[in-house]
Parts: sequence; C-alpha cells; structure tokens
Amino acid sequence: MSVATATSIQVTGARRVYPSGAGGELVALNDVDLSVRAGSFVSVIGPSGCGKSTLLRLVAGLEDPERGEVRVCGVSPHEAAAAKMLGLVPQTPALLPWLSVLGNVKLPAKVNRGASRKRAGVPGPSMEELLRKAGLQDAMHKLPSQLSGGMQQRAAIVRAFALRPDVLLMDEPFSALDEFTRESLQEQLLDLWDELQATVLFVTHSVTEAVRLSDRIVVMAPRPGRITEVIDVDLPRPRGSALLKTPEFHHYEDLVRDALRGAFHGS
Ligand SMILES: Nc1ncnc2c1ncn2[C@@H]1O[C@H](COP(=O)(O)OP(=O)(O)OP(=O)(O)O)[C@@H](O)[C@H]1O
Ligand SMILES: [Mg+2]
Repeated sequence: MSVATATSIQVTGARRVYPSGAGGELVALNDVDLSVRAGSFVSVIGPSGCGKSTLLRLVAGLEDPERGEVRVCGVSPHEAAAAKMLGLVPQTPALLPWLSVLGNVKLPAKVNRGASRKRAGVPGPSMEELLRKAGLQDAMHKLPSQLSGGMQQRAAIVRAFALRPDVLLMDEPFSALDEFTRESLQEQLLDLWDELQATVLFVTHSVTEAVRLSDRIVVMAPRPGRITEVIDVDLPRPRGSALLKTPEFHHYEDLVRDALRGAFHGS
C-alpha cells in the first residue's frame, strides 16, 4: 500500500465555530488533528457537547472547518462523497417512511447506480444477506413506522453499508439498543468491517464498546472541543465476548475511563 493511500482520513488543525446567541461564539472544535489509517477502526469518545458529531460532519463534508483541512482518501470530503467513498450513519437515523426496510436499504445503490467505483468489482454480501445478519429478516418488507427504534437504527446501519464505502462514519449507531442486541450488533459490525475492509470512524459514549471495537480510541474534551488523548488498543482479534472478561480488556477500559475523567474535569 502506498503512503498516499495508507491514510484514509486526515484532519489537520481543524477549527469549527458556531454562533451562540447575543453575538457570542462557541468553539465546537479547536486545532483538531486526526489521522486514521486505511482499514482501521477508530472510535471517538467524550462528554456530550465536546464536538464528536461536529468532527464527523466535517469528515462527511456536511460542514467545512473555518480553519484547517480535512482529506478523505487523499481528496476533499466533497469529492470523496461524490465518488461514493463515504457512508454515514447519523446520530438520528432517517429512513424514508413510504419505503419498506428493503426499499430503504437498496435506495442508495439505486440512486447512485452501484457502489463506489473503487469497489464496484469487489464481491460483497447482498442487501438481503446483510439484513439477515442484522436480525431484520422478518422486517424486510415492513415500513419504518412498524419497527422499533432499535430496528430502525439497524436498518440505517445496513443502508450505510449498501454502497460498500471505503470510509464509514457512524455517530452513536447503537445508542437506542439494549445491551444484548448491542453486543450482537457489535459482532456483526466487526464481521462486516472485516469483510468489506472499510475504514470506520465511530462515535460512542460506551467505554466497553470503544475498547471492544477499536484499533485506536480518540478522547475529546469540551470548551473548546479538542482531542486530549489517543489510546491504541493492542488486543487480539477476533474480539469475542470472552475477551470482555479478561484483565487485558479491563486494563484498556481503565485507561479510557481515566482519560475521560480528565476530559470531564477540563484537564
Ligand atoms: N448547528 C449548530 N449551531 C450552534 N451550535 C451547535 C451546532 N451544532 C453543534 N453545536 C454546538 O457545538 C458543540 C458540539 O456539538 P456536537 O453535536 O458536535 O457535540 P457531541 O460531542 O456530538 O455531543 P453529544 O454527545 O451530545 O452528541 C455543542 O456545544 C453544540 O451545542
Ligand atoms: Mg453527537
């Protein structure tokens, strides 16, 4: 792999400011540097309001930084999105209410006439297969309004995989799920990630989830939103449920909790 393609996401000195009433301003992100290796799984964790979703929106090209630069697969986020290299699962999934689950999931591929050019020839699972893996086999022909919140979230995740993007951005995709469904979906996500060899940038509030899924965990703090610590998770894969009970796993959970304590107390 060449140096140019070895880094999937490169954020350099990014700053994002929002107006905050009465002429004031809120620094949602300040001087953020982030480098995500192609094919790796990176989680972002931090207190509410520290800029996690803002960071994802910058990488997705939905917003631009006031200062600094964002590159995705060596091009701008807008170009990466146009080339269908980017998939996004937003914090609140929006499914089209008049289409069945299967219709929603197949829509991106239909609208965009196929997967990312780079991956068009790469064989992958069918949408029906992905829905089955996500436990939605019985929901395929139902409308979103007939599903629970967690099922809608799962459908949105499968839809993001539909284009087989090179880079998948996920904003707290499992937050509406009970613990057991969440664990099973984490396993399915890791399987899919392995199969599709995508780069994943994943926002979560769960320390256990971050440690289980990630190669690297980025810890953020608010006011101004910034990265305070980066923790490499050197645990073997596949990471089955037995690993969660090992001292090595607890060691990483402790590291992340300590870093988060600092982030909450403004260090
Ligand atoms: N469009 C906007 N206009 C004004 N302020 C905004 C806007 N979007 C975000 N903010 C502010 O920027 C800061 C960062 O918001 P962001 O949504 O990125 O936080 P977050 O880390 O994702 O939080 P959470 O964990 O609650 O989802 C917050 O203080 C938020 O109020
Ligand atoms: Mg958020």
